[in-house]
Amino acid sequence: MTTALEAPLVNPLAAGLPSEAVPQPLTVVIFGATGDLSHRKLLPALYSLAAGHMLPPHFAVVGVARREQEHEDFRSDMRQAVGSFGDQGLSDAVWDSFAQSLHFCQGQFQDPHSYRALKRELDSLKERAGTCGNVLYYLATPPQFDADIVENLHAAGLLTGSASETPWTRIIFEKPFGHDLDSARELNRRIHEHLREDQIYRIDHYLGKETVQNIMAVRFANGILEPLWSRNYVDNIQITAAEAIGVENRASYYEGAGALRDMVQSHLLQVFSLVAMEPPVSWSPKAIHDEKVKVLQAMTRVRGGEVDHQAVRGQYGPGWVGGKPVAGYRQEQGVSPESNVDTFAALKLCVDSWRWAGVPIYLRTGKRLPRRATEVTLTFKSPPQMLFNRFSGPVQDDVLTMRIQPDEGVTLTLNSKVPGQGFQIQPVHLDFLYGATFSGHVPEAYERLLLDAMRGDSTLFTRTDEVEEGWDVIQGILDRWAETPVDFPNYPAGSWGPPASDELIQTDGRQWRNP
Ligand code: BG6
Repeated sequence: MTTALEAPLVNPLAAGLPSEAVPQPLTVVIFGATGDLSHRKLLPALYSLAAGHMLPPHFAVVGVARREQEHEDFRSDMRQAVGSFGDQGLSDAVWDSFAQSLHFCQGQFQDPHSYRALKRELDSLKERAGTCGNVLYYLATPPQFDADIVENLHAAGLLTGSASETPWTRIIFEKPFGHDLDSARELNRRIHEHLREDQIYRIDHYLGKETVQNIMAVRFANGILEPLWSRNYVDNIQITAAEAIGVENRASYYEGAGALRDMVQSHLLQVFSLVAMEPPVSWSPKAIHDEKVKVLQAMTRVRGGEVDHQAVRGQYGPGWVGGKPVAGYRQEQGVSPESNVDTFAALKLCVDSWRWAGVPIYLRTGKRLPRRATEVTLTFKSPPQMLFNRFSGPVQDDVLTMRIQPDEGVTLTLNSKVPGQGFQIQPVHLDFLYGATFSGHVPEAYERLLLDAMRGDSTLFTRTDEVEEGWDVIQGILDRWAETPVDFPNYPAGSWGPPASDELIQTDGRQWRNP
């Protein structure tokens, strides 16, 4: 006779799941389970998947962290996290069922004994929860532990299986993946000693955003745009990722990173590669990664003195954001009062390819800018003949804007005649707003990415060569900035960055499009 305690742990929330969408039974092991990322993103995302009936019936989560605690303490801490950071509210019924799948295993990332304890927990869950031995590891840990954790998992016999044959093993690596080109290569080399590439899921959460995935839909589900999508019609491409927040409580990480590493190497180059890539030959992960990597390979490398003309760095001083006074970066908690870390970066790059040769690519990101807004714009070339200038003054160029966040949507700005007796021309907007068109729950980036990794779909993760090419694109700029002096702070919080950022684009006779 089986007692209630011995009965397999089945997740009743999975009832009615569409079979093709259900991941196979598995355990998700989160290293760094008591950290910020777990609280803010991972547990809320897993809970949301549970609430949406997207988890398999045989499912478990094992949180690994240094601090000693009981399963129940872990569960109540995670319940609080989901309540505070989840976007859907917390239902007791859903939580009670989901909480049964949460387990805790105390462990030091560099201690081999901890991995043996983890192995015992996983073996036991295989029987009790019916997880079939499939394991998805999530390294929500400081990047310097990545390779050591992989080596310890290997030594403890915890990396058995492949990426797809059961029981399978996959690992999600949080960003940043490396600190520069050399360290990224070294990390790839070390983890490839124990893992095949198809077991490695390097996360870039921007790829999990609906609006970033929609870049591919806008491009490849609409025949009308493709003929325009090239140097023949596009004058320039801009990507701005503006944040109103400052460094918050992440100084210990950010002091070793800066805006160029933190945002450009990963998010902005990933978004750009989707904007600029050739149509993939199929919807397979390989076909898509192949095209993205070609874009990165074709981007010009800026080196030495060229950097001074094509890249601008900034650091915020005290100022005002959202009507409130805010501290400068050097006054933030945990930041050195002499810090030379960039909180703003603006670049002008080019892609030496048949499609994009000669089209300037302007990328810009910063903290403590006037508002949070990420968008991609393609500005089209002017018509060859300006018929209307004498009635209206200069007519503005057409612009396609893809708003990644907030006010998610796509806008095509065209020129139109102003009604009346004259012939005045004015820009008008053809607008698609997600909120006005689609209703229902929009999955948060981590929900999408966790589910994809559970299903073994690596399309929205980055491959070895993509990560290394991304570092290579910015390496010359990192090197130059490391060796040249800088006068920081050089922009007040709440402004659009240092004046040199405007000069960078104005010397080309263009303007930033401020969202
Ligand atoms: C992270 C960066 O990857 O992305 C942060 O480390 C940044 O510094 C964040 O604030 C921005 O993400 P989002 O989704 O808020 O645009």
